[in-house]
Amino acid sequence: MKIYTQAPLPFMGQKRRWSSAFKTALVSYSDCHTFIDLFGGSGLLSHFTKTVRPDARVVYNDFDGYTRRLAEIPRTNELLKELRAMLSGCPDNKRIEEPYRSRVLQAVERREREGYVDYVTLSASVLFSGKYATSLAQLRKETLYNTVRTSDYCADGYLDGITVTHEDYRALFDRWKSEDGVCFLIDPPYLSTQTSTYTGYWRLRDYLDVLRLLRHQLLLLHIREKLHHRAL
Ligand SMILES: C[S@@+](CC[C@H](N)C(=O)[O-])C[C@H]1O[C@@H](n2cnc3c(N)ncnc32)[C@H](O)[C@@H]1O
Repeated sequence: MKIYTQAPLPFMGQKRRWSSAFKTALVSYSDCHTFIDLFGGSGLLSHFTKTVRPDARVVYNDFDGYTRRLAEIPRTNELLKELRAMLSGCPDNKRIEEPYRSRVLQAVERREREGYVDYVTLSASVLFSGKYATSLAQLRKETLYNTVRTSDYCADGYLDGITVTHEDYRALFDRWKSEDGVCFLIDPPYLSTQTSTYTGYWRLRDYLDVLRLLRHQLLLLHIREKLHHRAL
């Protein structure tokens, strides 16, 4: 299995820097046979889990449609190839001036008419580092920079053996909460960080709801432990 150290396509908030700490922690959950990635994001934690525990069932909750972006990688690579050729005379890492700017936007518009544009991935190639647009209208308002990626994106094998679902974390949690041997991976959006590329808003009351869910799970563990000791 090919091991990815970061998500194949850009994703804000992916846990690439947590790889070794996460994998170390996973080992101590050897009694779990199912891992549910409630806030899957880019799927990176699901991927890490599958590499460490290929025997386990791993469920990746793709709430943002990241798998659609993965499926569209061939189209994304085509667009970037076109932009590379178009901008070959422009200096790297500098502003894209007219007439190139208009040509870039026209190419993006055409690709959108033809079916699909992955704006988050495109942003990494034409916007200042860390900036993201999620639509053509947003892209038009931005200063464009020539930071077009020089190699193709690839996600081969990234989600092999992983079950993908697309739902609210509460529904997913409810379905699995009473099963034995289940470990929930809980990495919700952070308060006060930019979440414009995520689906929906994340407010304080959403955090409180996650805490309620965690409390429920800890309580459940506590009860189970007590029953276990009583049985002994
Ligand atoms: C911090 S990110 C998770 C990052 C992920 N662990 C990774 O490594 O890529 C939080 C994710 O939760 C998603 N999310 C927001 N509201 C949600 C909901 N109600 N149910 C499930 N996921 C949700 C966000 O869209 C975002 O993808």
